Amino acid sequence: THTYVVSGAASGIGAATASLLREQGHRVIGVDLRDSDVTADLSTPEGRAGAVLGVRALTDVVHGVVPCAGVAGLTGVNPALVVSVNYFGALGLVRGLQPELAASGSGAVVLLASNSITCQPGWAGDVADLCLTDDEQAARGAAAATEAVQVYPATKAALAWWARRDGLGPDWIGSGIRVNAVAPGLIATPMTDRLRADPELGAFADSYPTAIQRPGRPEEVAATIAFLLSDAASLIVGSVLFVDGGTDAMLHPEVP
Ligand code: NAI
Repeated sequence: THTYVVSGAASGIGAATASLLREQGHRVIGVDLRDSDVTADLSTPEGRAGAVLGVRALTDVVHGVVPCAGVAGLTGVNPALVVSVNYFGALGLVRGLQPELAASGSGAVVLLASNSITCQPGWAGDVADLCLTDDEQAARGAAAATEAVQVYPATKAALAWWARRDGLGPDWIGSGIRVNAVAPGLIATPMTDRLRADPELGAFADSYPTAIQRPGRPEEVAATIAFLLSDAASLIVGSVLFVDGGTDAMLHPEVP
């Protein structure tokens, strides 16, 4: 039995991931704003520290962390909040639990990117660059100058690039911790229900084609995450795996 930490565990992909891992016989410590084992607001440094302490009170060893908590870039959402939850909230939890991951001897992290990083045109590259410099206030400031819809892919790209850069460093693979990312397409969850209901963006919800002619299900993303966490994925390091029914391949047939 392994112990896994899943944020955003109260809804959507996080809830499906927690359920699947529990079905597989593992222990899951869920982190969310409510209805979870550890209640924490990952949008602030204090909330992230509280989340890490809350997990530490329950376990000394963590085999995997899956930061699913995220905020979509919908109309009326503060773009700075998207930065703080999606990028700094995810990495605050992952970095805070690095000692517990290292203690497992074979830790794994699966970050939630998005296929918007390759499929949505015009996103805010400056926000992604500032996230990767670790300057939350600067990244929030750049985000505030643009629209949340163009900030969301920037936070997800920064997570994907972090997996490929920092994930190869001494604290991560050098400590036996494999860092990878998944890049889901449109998945039917409460988040995308809210997207469909958005007065401006709702019309675009289903504008990306899929080869399988349907949106994804949270269970399908959970299955991929559980595989990446498992020892069956022992050779997979620094990968960004598109889990999108073929959308990225359809839009970029010539890019590996
Ligand atoms: P969801 O909205 O169903 O669930 C997100 C969860 O995160 C909620 O339980 C919410 O309470 C929690 N959360 C939000 N802000 C928080 C905060 N400040 N502190 C703690 N918890 C917080 O979303 P869904 O669809 O399950 O998405 C999960 C992840 O997958 C997100 O990171 C999302 O960006 C990503 N993703 C989702 C896609 C989709 O089509 N649904 C596609 C690509 C990526």
